[in-house]
Amino acid sequence: MVPGLCARPRARGLELELNDTLKRPLRDLRISVTDRCNFRCRYCMPKEVFGRDYVFLSKDLLLSFEEILRLARIFSGFGLKKIRLTGGEPLLRRDIETLVAMLAGIPGVELTLTTNGSLLAKKAVGLAQAGLHRISVSLDSLDDKVFMAMNDVDFPVSRVLEGIQAAVEVGLSPIKVNMVAKRGVNEDSILPMARFFHGSGHILRFIEYMDVGNTNGWRLDDVVPAAEIVRMIGAEMPIEPVEPNYRGEVANRWRYLDGGGEFGIVASVTQAFCADCTRARLSADGSLFTCLFATMGFDLRNLLRSGAADEEISQAIRSVWSHRADRYSEIRGSETADLHKVEMSFIGG
Ligand code: GTP
Ligand code: 5AD
Ligand code: SF4
Ligand code: SF4
Repeated sequence: MVPGLCARPRARGLELELNDTLKRPLRDLRISVTDRCNFRCRYCMPKEVFGRDYVFLSKDLLLSFEEILRLARIFSGFGLKKIRLTGGEPLLRRDIETLVAMLAGIPGVELTLTTNGSLLAKKAVGLAQAGLHRISVSLDSLDDKVFMAMNDVDFPVSRVLEGIQAAVEVGLSPIKVNMVAKRGVNEDSILPMARFFHGSGHILRFIEYMDVGNTNGWRLDDVVPAAEIVRMIGAEMPIEPVEPNYRGEVANRWRYLDGGGEFGIVASVTQAFCADCTRARLSADGSLFTCLFATMGFDLRNLLRSGAADEEISQAIRSVWSHRADRYSEIRGSETADLHKVEMSFIGG
């Protein structure tokens, strides 16, 4: 038997479960469909770097929908459970609904998408009709002044909330709302956000500010630790921890004791979760990355465009994953400080 693989019968027939060197299976594929975004969040695409002169990928370098579908099908042969479309901002990719409809046909795989919400009011109906299962929306504050300073393009809160409402109306739920918490910037928005989404049916998730890429000037002092967020919310509304929904769930879950639902915290800085990381990322130009903090990917587009058969591509993915040893968040420190990491807008959150 090939190292890293064990044959096991599954609902979809005989599939090969693929494990990396730390015995982590490949369960989650995050596909970036564009490196462009209409926001310039300071923690992700600061204007000083992603300004007028920044060169984004040209159309011929992007994977086509057919290429994405072909890869997604090959990945699904390894027991994939979820595909998440990301960017940049995925709703900027022309005819994204067509891609959603193509991917929705892969059996047994949950299909979801992470968006900044700016185009959601317009696109929610089409996405739901195309077969998208659910959606996550980023929103860093309910205060326009704070939110606009963070997105750096003066985009108002109300339009993101309209997008969320449109998603509710077409059943793209449960909706997750992602808030990156940054010290001194939006920490005063933590409690108002918790109060607003308490009882709403949506799941608010606080994300510790991360040192992804090389452009956001990250400092440990800018992180609001998960424990502090839990203390803040717990002091106002009684809460208790909840077991994860599945192995490797990114967010720690907390429940309001009064029945007001739950919230989560993605504590990748203070409580690294690499031990259970089952996520692969496909960049918009077709490279496979095995960690959010990777410095290099494996070029699958070249294989696709040089006439490789499915089995050959499958073999390449198998080889990359079975050699995978990434655990960046667990070893973050002086030895990782000088790495030239790929930007998050390129490989997707
Ligand atoms: P669902 O549970 O299906 O909603 O998905 P998820 O928990 O994977 O959520 P989502 O994709 O929205 O991830 C939330 C945020 O967590 C992302 O936007 C990233 O900021 C962060 N994140 C996701 N995956 C990783 C990861 O593998 N490593 C690190 N360090 N952060 C991650
Ligand atoms: N730290 C934490 N989260 C980030 N995101 C983007 N950059 C960072 C960062 N530096 C999040 C966004 C969005 C998702 C795509 O990734 O808020 O929710
Ligand atoms: Fe765009 Fe999302 Fe990055 Fe903000 S975090 S710049 S919305 S890709
Ligand atoms: Fe996975 Fe890398 Fe994030 Fe760790 S740092 S959880 S290995 S993506």
